Amino acid sequence: MPKRRRPKIDGERLPNHIGIIMDGNGRWAKTKGMARTEGHRAGSLAVRRVVRACRRLGVSHLTLFAFSAQNWGRPEYEVQALMNLLAEFIANEWQEIMDKDIRVIQLGELRRVPVDVRKQLQELIKATRTNRSMTLALALSYGAREEIIHVIRKLTRRGMKGKLNPLEIDQELVSDNLYTSSLPDPDLIIRTGGEKRISNFLLWQSAYAEFFFSKKLWPDFSVEDLYGAIAEFQKRNRRFGLTDEQVDQVQ
Ligand code: IPE
Ligand code: IPE
Ligand code: MG
Repeated sequence: MPKRRRPKIDGERLPNHIGIIMDGNGRWAKTKGMARTEGHRAGSLAVRRVVRACRRLGVSHLTLFAFSAQNWGRPEYEVQALMNLLAEFIANEWQEIMDKDIRVIQLGELRRVPVDVRKQLQELIKATRTNRSMTLALALSYGAREEIIHVIRKLTRRGMKGKLNPLEIDQELVSDNLYTSSLPDPDLIIRTGGEKRISNFLLWQSAYAEFFFSKKLWPDFSVEDLYGAIAEFQKRNRRFGLTDEQVDQVQ
């Protein structure tokens, strides 16, 4: 098979944090006449590929949207299959995650996750706590609106106890109380599967993220596609509300 060309990227200007909405597993399976759950299985191979590639490249934070708060509403067997795949993924990848010095964290409402998978995930999080080469954040049972409500409740409780003056609430305090408190804001958000929407992913954090939409279904998303997304990111002109001249002055 001819070697696919890998788009050129500048290793000095990598996105510090990439978020990926891994969409299209169900459709991938359908085009092959398979059950949706087979699409999720194929999707977990793509996860492995992309995590490895990001680590190799030197991307320091990677957030994968694996299961949304709304995905709990899917048919029971599909939810069950996804939880089983997660358990399998943790068991199979544990050693490599440790060897590659990857820190794993979770974003979302962990208490909704079945107890056996939850325990396994908590153990992995604990075991990788001091790993430093890359942070892999699994957005699992995650919804951005749910996350924002969680922050509002937390800060309101503090306020009601007289421990927080509303005037002290600023962007930094909100960011520090999100599930993503240990992560920088995402620079690049990739969505596979052809849809151009955010589907309740990192709403607050993506205020100035660059978006890249790929028509590829997640199980087909290759390392070349990842490089392509990063190459495109490196062509974008991020202004953060300022003028080009101002941005040029800072650089
Ligand atoms: C993404 O693929 C995985 C999850 C949302 C868990 P989908 O299962 O949404 O696949 P499509 O979008 O139906 O093809
Ligand atoms: C977004 O995909 C959630 C994940 C990739 C985990 P969905 O398939 O749930 O999103 P919608 O329903 O197309 O918006
Ligand atoms: Mg989908």
